[in-house]
Amino acid sequence: VNWARNIFVRNAKLYELVLEGMWKAGEDEAMAIGAVLQDRGMTGCKVLDVPSGIGRIGIPLAQLGFSVAGLDFSSYLIDVARRKSKQFGVSKNASFYVGDMHKMKFEEGEFDCAINVFTSIGYESEKEDLEFLRGLRRVVKRGGLFFISGLRNRDYIITHASQNVYEESESLLVLDRYEFDVLRSRERGSWRFFLRAGGALRLAGEFPISIRIYSPHELVAMLEATDWKLSGVFQSFVTKSPFSTGSPVYSLLAEAV
Ligand SMILES: C[S@@+](CC[C@H](N)C(=O)[O-])C[C@H]1O[C@@H](n2cnc3c(N)ncnc32)[C@H](O)[C@@H]1O
Repeated sequence: VNWARNIFVRNAKLYELVLEGMWKAGEDEAMAIGAVLQDRGMTGCKVLDVPSGIGRIGIPLAQLGFSVAGLDFSSYLIDVARRKSKQFGVSKNASFYVGDMHKMKFEEGEFDCAINVFTSIGYESEKEDLEFLRGLRRVVKRGGLFFISGLRNRDYIITHASQNVYEESESLLVLDRYEFDVLRSRERGSWRFFLRAGGALRLAGEFPISIRIYSPHELVAMLEATDWKLSGVFQSFVTKSPFSTGSPVYSLLAEAV
């Protein structure tokens, strides 16, 4: 079992808490993406959210009137997404499927748009990422859009070395400890999950991670090699702040050519 399956599939119940704690941020992301699609005359178009997790962005997009399909390899997270789409009254225009993002089984040109949010690339090797981009290009029609959002920026990481990062939500504290392998451009380390129990924190698990971190220019080259054309680069779609080498994260908008 690779590290990504270990955390997202085997320990999905714990990871669900991370995504739950970011639900509001997902709604903001959906609003920002939805606004770009509306500006381009793509109101209500067909969107593929991959990987979708619990539908943090796909479900709010469906609430905005888009027709959404979500794909994720974690059947537990997909069950949560299905339940939530019923809860939010959008189960007619949001469907969620279990599957591997590197082997997409949708029809050619089935979607007008695809989204990939929150460091959802780089879990395996560049070969798998290229397979993902190529497979995605096949299922998005020519002229369609691809939003990649919330990628860690290698150019920032190598100039702002930090070995410990933590994220907090109501129920959870996650401590990321990592070292950056400059030769392979991979973050290697672990995520430690602490559950809140009253005023105390209880260690619920420690999971190794290894993530390929791309500079924007590397990802642009990979997009171009798989028949996508760069259409915009931002620090974030939500704030619309411009990207610079000092941006800790970045987001790309590409068009299918
Ligand atoms: C950081 S989460 C982001 C989820 C969602 N995009 C969001 O922003 O809420 C990464 C997701 O990728 C999924 N994932 C990782 N590798 C995958 C693969 N090979 N195929 C499909 N899903 C995968 C995980 O199950 C997890 O839900």
